[in-house]
Amino acid sequence: MMPGGAASPLQQLIARFGTALIVTDPQQLAAVSVDHRQLYRGKALALALPRSTAEVSQLLAFCNALRIGVVPQGGNTSYCGGTAPDESGRQLVLSLRRLNAIRDLQPLNNSMVVEAGCILADVQTAATAAGRFFPLSLGAEGSCHIGGNLSTNAGGVNVVRYGMARDLVLGLEVVLADGRVLSTLGALRKDNTGYDLRHLFIGAEGTLGVITAASLKLFPAPRSIACGFTAVPDPAAAVGLLAHLREHCGDLVTSFELIPAVAVELVQRHLPGSRAPLAAGSPWYVLCEITSAVAAEALDERLEEALGAALEAGLLTDAVIAQSERERQEFWFLRENIPEAQRRDGPSLKHDVSLPINRLPEFIERASDWLAREVAEAYIVCYGHVGDGNLHFNLNQSRSGATDTADRLAGREHEIRRALHDLVKDMDGSFSAEHGIGRHKVEELERYAPPLELELMQAIKRAFDPNGIMNPGKVLRAT
Ligand code: FAD
Ligand code: MLT
Ligand code: ZN
Repeated sequence: MMPGGAASPLQQLIARFGTALIVTDPQQLAAVSVDHRQLYRGKALALALPRSTAEVSQLLAFCNALRIGVVPQGGNTSYCGGTAPDESGRQLVLSLRRLNAIRDLQPLNNSMVVEAGCILADVQTAATAAGRFFPLSLGAEGSCHIGGNLSTNAGGVNVVRYGMARDLVLGLEVVLADGRVLSTLGALRKDNTGYDLRHLFIGAEGTLGVITAASLKLFPAPRSIACGFTAVPDPAAAVGLLAHLREHCGDLVTSFELIPAVAVELVQRHLPGSRAPLAAGSPWYVLCEITSAVAAEALDERLEEALGAALEAGLLTDAVIAQSERERQEFWFLRENIPEAQRRDGPSLKHDVSLPINRLPEFIERASDWLAREVAEAYIVCYGHVGDGNLHFNLNQSRSGATDTADRLAGREHEIRRALHDLVKDMDGSFSAEHGIGRHKVEELERYAPPLELELMQAIKRAFDPNGIMNPGKVLRAT
């Protein structure tokens, strides 16, 4: 009871929804009160586990009336602290994990309707089982949810060909802060009927409403795939190779990932069984893939020809094409496990930046020079989706042997971030390419977004969530 005998918000939640929906077990609350990178450890009021859109709707209406902050949570794999409740003990974590049905799949319309709590890998598998392809793919796909992917507008490794999560959506079902359900779940490819509201919720990180289901685009399944692992002398050659591959293979280019030698070494050091595809060392590598929906298309020959011409042009120094699906998986294992290898190697700082593709080499050079001069506590692990102009310009604690290196690096996080993001801004780039804002980058958004853009975002927030209950303090500062 609250002082004076009134029931507390938690008591009222339990009285209204019961303990099957409102979990208060301390262990479960501790697990959902911290984000994936453990940047923020909050204190949840409780964990809500609704089983249907109707229950999400009732929960939000109730929380809105009582002004209880609600923190939506999918697979909790995001990088900017968007999933952690604050430290007040007054915010409810709302997990979508029980909303995990595939509601519909229409191969002839190339579309499927899935609930927000479906694990991304399960969405991909269902599409494949129907002879179709859902292209969103990223290292966390075994645990992230489609609702989380859409709420962060995730990118991943197939953006070159298929676009970001936003580009894969036909419609959404969203529960608004006041509990009303907005459904645009149609399966239409053309629908010009006024403002396209779905795009406001994509990338909103749970600050405007809760996505409960999505109508997704499917594509013809790739039936021919050629995957190459190439050694390149420097990032400029990698950018040249991308243009070259596009000239030779056009829209078949599906993935184009830059990998530095230090990342290959990290994965080999921390994940036993991984194999470097090329024997001779190189400072940089590119993992590239071309795919076609046409069965038995001679893609290996096509890629070999393109890479051969690139070798002659000095854009690469060596290359190998996967000879089997197993070998292809080995190439991808190296790429997908870079974040995990970095994590196992020790504390790191992440910078998820994008630039015009032609300016990537200049950025890498300028940022690396600055770090070499100014930051002895870290070494650079710069890799990523170069085909999309997106670099993960990460830093790992140097292996100097000094016991206080981690503390010194953490202490300089703000200064390092500022220098790198100022450089990004100076070069017409973005300080958040695919990981979003969460709580971690609110200050960055305030610093780098044009004032008018911020003003409009705040107006949208007020229009959708006048009481400020939706994921307070994420993306925009809580008011
Ligand atoms: P969560 O972390 O649970 O939530 C993310 C945000 O969305 C939070 O603010 C949350 O409140 C909100 N939210 C979640 N579900 C809903 C919903 N249903 N309605 C409204 N709001 C909601 N990201 C990339 O873009 N590209 C990559 O290549 C990539 N690789 C990764 C590799 C690894 C190994 C890891 C650990 C992460 C990677 N990520 C990548 C980051 C992460 O996987 C993505 O951001 C992913 O889209 C998050 O999904 P999630 O279900 O875990 O969301
Ligand atoms: C990736 O592409 O591997 C992730 O988005 C980056 C990261 O984990 O730092
Ligand atoms: Zn990424």
